[in-house]
Amino acid sequence: MTEKTPRLRAALEAVPTYKPGKPAAADGPVAYKLSSNENPYPPLPGVLESAVAAAGSFNRYPDMACTGLMAELAEHFGVPLTHLATGTGSVGVAQQLVQATAGPGDEVVYAWRSFEAYPIITQVSGATPVQVPLTEGDVHDLDAMLAAITDRTRLIFVCNPNNPTGTVVRRAELEAFLDRVPSDVLVVLDEAYREFIRDEAVPDGIDLYRDRPNVCVLRTFSKAYGLAGLRVGFAVAHEPVAAALRKTAVPFGVSQVAQDAAVASLRSEKALGERVDALVAERTRVAAALAGQGWTVPESQANFVWLRLGELALDFAAACERAGVVVRPFPGEGVRVTIGETEANDLFLRAAEEFRKEL
Ligand SMILES: Cc1ncc(COP(=O)(O)O)c(C=O)c1O
Repeated sequence: MTEKTPRLRAALEAVPTYKPGKPAAADGPVAYKLSSNENPYPPLPGVLESAVAAAGSFNRYPDMACTGLMAELAEHFGVPLTHLATGTGSVGVAQQLVQATAGPGDEVVYAWRSFEAYPIITQVSGATPVQVPLTEGDVHDLDAMLAAITDRTRLIFVCNPNNPTGTVVRRAELEAFLDRVPSDVLVVLDEAYREFIRDEAVPDGIDLYRDRPNVCVLRTFSKAYGLAGLRVGFAVAHEPVAAALRKTAVPFGVSQVAQDAAVASLRSEKALGERVDALVAERTRVAAALAGQGWTVPESQANFVWLRLGELALDFAAACERAGVVVRPFPGEGVRVTIGETEANDLFLRAAEEFRKEL
């Protein structure tokens, strides 16, 4: 008789595997990782000290309610404590949002291509993903997303700026969209890259959520704040959504090291601003250089750029790797390249130029 294996949920069979950005090789010519939209800078002033001090007590569980961090966030963003929830990175909070709203038979709508965790967390909950293609210009097609809403729709992600294209949805169109989404469907504005936006027509989700009980804003300490490895993100939402997030959280999910580092990061606003400005200046330089080389690059408001290379995506990524930078290819679609340190960006631009000459 053959041994039976434990019965797993059938929904898991269709779940795609999350592909992390490839690391830079420890030896050989590859030196820079531009594949995960990480921040190239070391921790902000005071952050490492706070983290190290907290590490001395890691025989204890962290403060489960994240009291200090929640208080700091409430003050920083001018929102009530009851409207906040933290989690293990904003992807952790996104997963809690799907768990709280959608199960088998329910639908989760999002643009595609967008953040690759959306299909995974949707299907882990047993819900059905509804992917709405981006427009020709790689922007969210909000009219098509509205048309995709059915009576089974429970949650809609709007990734602004969109990963991996860097494109944005502006105030007028987003407000018109929100006005038309049924009030019992949760709209999640995923603003993981918010700090890199310089286009003033892009709204701050925290302004939009205030008088819209079905809007939730997701933010993270992983990108501009440079705490990707510590796993801390948060949501701003009205009750009962924020309360549902506190219920679905993994107990003690955010370590004390992460909590204290996040508080210290919020108190380092000036240094944060300088670093983000420097990365934005590099983004402008990289985008202009690519345009000068003849590439068509959608305008990015994030810390990465997108090249729609189609079938050439893998070849291009291999050429970059030979030149010393690891980028993120999406086979058959394009390549996403994080804005990193100046030397890394220069190596990437040189590789792009060489590749272009060979076309
Ligand atoms: C759009 C978007 N949202 C959320 C995340 C999750 O980031 P984290 O879980 O590190 O906060 C990412 C990370 O790449 C992202 O690109």
